Amino acid sequence: MSEIDWDALHARAVEASSRAYVPYSRFPVGAAALVDDGRIVAGANIENAAYGVTLCAECSLVSEMVMGGGGRLVAFACVNGAGERLMPCGRCRQLLSEHAAPGMLLDTVSGIRTMEEVLPDAFGPAALDDYTEHQRSSTRG
Ligand code: THU
Repeated sequence: MSEIDWDALHARAVEASSRAYVPYSRFPVGAAALVDDGRIVAGANIENAAYGVTLCAECSLVSEMVMGGGGRLVAFACVNGAGERLMPCGRCRQLLSEHAAPGMLLDTVSGIRTMEEVLPDAFGPAALDDYTEHQRSSTRG
């Protein structure tokens, strides 16, 4: 998957940002990603009067991917309402990491980066598996 059309992803993110529901922050965010089967998924932030309930753009993007058949994220772009690159917040780096294809790339404010670069040594499912295996072997007679 070497040919990533970053301009197209950026355009989809900008389009998604126009659908943001942001009556509180007035800060629209749009995100778009290439999935490993070639689909493009997108999302926008959806705020709530109970502020903490707000869904980031990455949440609606991951929901679209999972509900649309699953897959793994290959390339990701995120923009603010002015179409400028935006870094995913810490929580969303965790969210993206769970669904990343190996070597997933992000279009960041400091250039194209891997998921591992923007969330080094991430906590993930392997930590749970390791612990479960540890428990199993330590309770074995
Ligand atoms: N926001 C996102 O949608 N994604 C991020 O990664 C950073 C923050 C949204 C949440 C909120 O609606 C607005 O930006 C201001 O924080």
